[in-house]
Amino acid sequence: HLNTHFRTEENIHNGCQYEDQATLFNFVVKQGNGVKGLIDSGMSCVPQPFVQPLSERIATPHARTCEAAQPIDLSQLDGPRHKEVSKQITEAAATLGFFQVVNHGVSVELLELLKTSAHKFFAQPPEKKAIYLKEVSPSKLVKYGTSFVPEKEKAIEWKDYVSMLYTNDHEVLQHWPPQCREVALDFLKSSMAMVERVVEVLMEDVGVRLEEERMNRLMGTKMVNMNYYPTCPSPELTIGVGRHSDMGMLTVLLQDGIGGLYVKLDNGDWAEIPPLDGALVINVGDTLQILSNGKYKSAEHRVRTTNFGSRVSVPIFTAPNPSEKIGPLPEVVKHDGVARYKELLFQDYMNNFFGQPHDGKKSLDFARAD
Ligand code: OGA
Ligand code: NI
Repeated sequence: HLNTHFRTEENIHNGCQYEDQATLFNFVVKQGNGVKGLIDSGMSCVPQPFVQPLSERIATPHARTCEAAQPIDLSQLDGPRHKEVSKQITEAAATLGFFQVVNHGVSVELLELLKTSAHKFFAQPPEKKAIYLKEVSPSKLVKYGTSFVPEKEKAIEWKDYVSMLYTNDHEVLQHWPPQCREVALDFLKSSMAMVERVVEVLMEDVGVRLEEERMNRLMGTKMVNMNYYPTCPSPELTIGVGRHSDMGMLTVLLQDGIGGLYVKLDNGDWAEIPPLDGALVINVGDTLQILSNGKYKSAEHRVRTTNFGSRVSVPIFTAPNPSEKIGPLPEVVKHDGVARYKELLFQDYMNNFFGQPHDGKKSLDFARAD
């Protein structure tokens, strides 16, 4: 019941006018057809609600690639090259906030299965996915949707996703979507040791040894997402994910071969994190920036859309327990002589984060010391 639009010069450059934007919003967001449903319905131009302000558009898809093109070999971390590899990790976390790793302990077969499962989940008819819309989802652990906070955004992001919160194996295997639960849980479990090891290395370099208990609380929230970025008729008008940083400790991300993940450099330029077969992307989240008193940088990143294929990605987010107090670690503050962030309850940080549309690193202002 959505009209198909003719692809004209005019709407290729400005988005197509939609007679009734409320109908479109209902179809895509409220009824859970997603951006994928829109494309599958025959839409051949970008409707106005998806057209980004000029300042957010990605004019030139050909950004330079960056240091993250050279992956770090984690198998060397506990051998004779420990110092060198640690340094690669801490330097990347303190500058770009992004790096890629190989020999990470997650099997390459599993990485392939994850991409296939993501495609399988989104290939289902809309009504099968819509059962997980947040208003009706049978489980608090699972949420399916489009864009980040579509109700509040100036323009809707060109992305559908399903997010799966980890509690325990038993609940997960009961509640996560059957199309992807086994592989997603497998991914979470086989990467967690690696993530904790990387956090340890980062902490060690700022003179902190976290007690096991504290580490568990700081990494207590674990979530696996599957993102789906449908092919877009006019990629230059839209954004897959707008500029943002992740709120947690570290994010581990599997991306497919399509590309389009960009990170912001110090000088304001954007560089692409190129897809590397078998590698995983790791990026620093706001929490780690706060704990390290600003030494490690949560990276501002975004995703472009393409007109040559649908892209999937599978991030694992690690973050503190909601009840955990976070703030710059005492050892670091002592060394720096100043606390750049205040102490706060992670729940409050999270509420603020999910209450605002994506806007670069603005999320961190919430924690800034006065
Ligand atoms: C995210 C994100 C990047 C990607 O989900 O927070 O930044 O490549 N995803 O999908
Ligand atoms: Ni992100």
